Amino acid sequence: MTDKKFILVTGGAGYIGSHTVVELHRNGFVPVIVDDFRNSSRKVLKGIENLIGVKPIIFDVDVCDKEALNEVFKQYYFEGVIHFAANKAVGESVSNPLKYYRNNVIGLVNCLELMQMHSVNCFLFSSSCTVYGQPENDIMVSENSPFIKANSPYGATKQIGERIIEDVYLSTKKSRFLNLRYFNPIGSHSSCEIGEFPIGTPDNLIPFVTQTAIGKRDSLTVFGNDYNTPDGTCIRDYIHVVDLANAHVKGLVWLLQQTDGAHESVNIGTGKGTSVKEIIDIFEKESGLSLNWRYGERRPGDVEQIFANNQKANLLLNWKPELSINQAISDAWNWEKKLKSEE
Ligand code: NAD
Ligand code: WQD
Repeated sequence: MTDKKFILVTGGAGYIGSHTVVELHRNGFVPVIVDDFRNSSRKVLKGIENLIGVKPIIFDVDVCDKEALNEVFKQYYFEGVIHFAANKAVGESVSNPLKYYRNNVIGLVNCLELMQMHSVNCFLFSSSCTVYGQPENDIMVSENSPFIKANSPYGATKQIGERIIEDVYLSTKKSRFLNLRYFNPIGSHSSCEIGEFPIGTPDNLIPFVTQTAIGKRDSLTVFGNDYNTPDGTCIRDYIHVVDLANAHVKGLVWLLQQTDGAHESVNIGTGKGTSVKEIIDIFEKESGLSLNWRYGERRPGDVEQIFANNQKANLLLNWKPELSINQAISDAWNWEKKLKSEE
C-alpha cells in the first residue's frame, strides 16, 4: 500500500489537462496521464517536468482501447479520474460527427466501466457551457438553466456525456461525479513552460489573435458586429486556464470529501462577459501592438452572449478565479512568442 494519491488524467497532455497536471502535483496528488497525443505535442512533457521537478507518469494509450486502458487501471489504485480526453473542434464535429460520437462517448463509457471494475469512486468530467446553447432569458447562466438542443455534434457529446454520468450515478447512488462546465479557457502558464499547441488553423479567438500578431495569419476577422450587445460583437466569459486547472483540484478535493454518493454540475467561469472588440483592445494594450483585424460576417451557430453564474463553484467547491483577463491575454501572447522563438 502507498499513501500516494494517484489520479488518472485522461487527455493530460492537452491544453487544459497539462495545466491541471501541474496544479494537481502542486497540491500533493500524483497525476497519471493517459494520452495518445492525437491533439497534443510530446514537448509538453518536458514543460511539465520543468515545472514539477519530476518526469510526469505518462501512458501513450487511446482511451477508446478498453483493454489497454484496463492495463493502466491494473497498475495503480486511483483515488479519482479526471476525464479530459475528447475531440473538441465544433466545426469538424459538424462535418465528421461519428468521429466525435466515437471518441467522446466511447472514451467516457470505457472510463466509467473500468472505474466500476476497479472500484474507483470519484469521477470529474470536462463538460462545457456549450450544453446551454444560447440562453433564452438570463445570459448569466446558472447550473439549473435548461439544456437546449445542441447545435453541434460536439455539444451533443457533452450533453450525452452528462446524461450517461447521471444514469450511472442513479443506478447505484454510490460513486461521486462532478461535471465541470467550462466557459472559454484562455492563456497559458505564466512561466511559458506549457501552453496550447494549436494544430492547423485555430477556431478559437485568442490563438487566432496571437497568431495574427506574430505573423502566422494575415488578419483577424471579427465574426459579426451587429449583435444586440453594447459594441455589436459577441460576449463570452474568458477564464485563465490556470484558474480552470485549480478548479479541478478543488473539484477533486470535494469529490474525495464526500462520504456518500454524489452528483453535481458546476460552472467554471469568471462571471464576467467580455466582447470580441474588448479582447482586441486588451490585446493591443498588453502587447503594445496594433492588430490587423476587420469586421466580417457572423459565424453560423455562434451564441450572441453568455457568461457564468459562478456562485455554486464558490459555495460548493470553495473556488474563485484569481487571474485577470489582462493577465490571461498577456500570458497567451508570451506563449505565442515562445513558440515562435523555438521554430
Ligand atoms: P486538447 O485537445 O488540448 O486536449 C485533449 C487531449 O486529449 C489531447 O492531448 C488529445 O491528444 C487527448 N485525446 C483525445 N482523444 C483521446 C483518446 N481517444 N485517447 C487518448 N487521448 C486522447 O483539448 P482541451 O482544450 O485541453 O480540452 C480538454 C477537455 O475539455 C475536452 O474534453 C474538451 O471537450 C473540454 N472543453 C474544452 C474547452 C476549450 O475551449 N478548450 C471548453 C470546454 C470544454
Ligand atoms: C469566441 C468569440 C466568435 C474566432 C467554443 C466552443 C465551445 C467551447 C469554447 C468547448 C465568438 C469570435 C472567434 C475568430 C471571432 N469549447 N471569433 N473571430 O465559440 O465561444 O466557444 O470554445 O467546449 O463549445 O464552441 O469560442 O474562441 O471560437 O469564439 O470573431 O477568428 O470570438 O465569433 O464570438 P466559442 P471561440
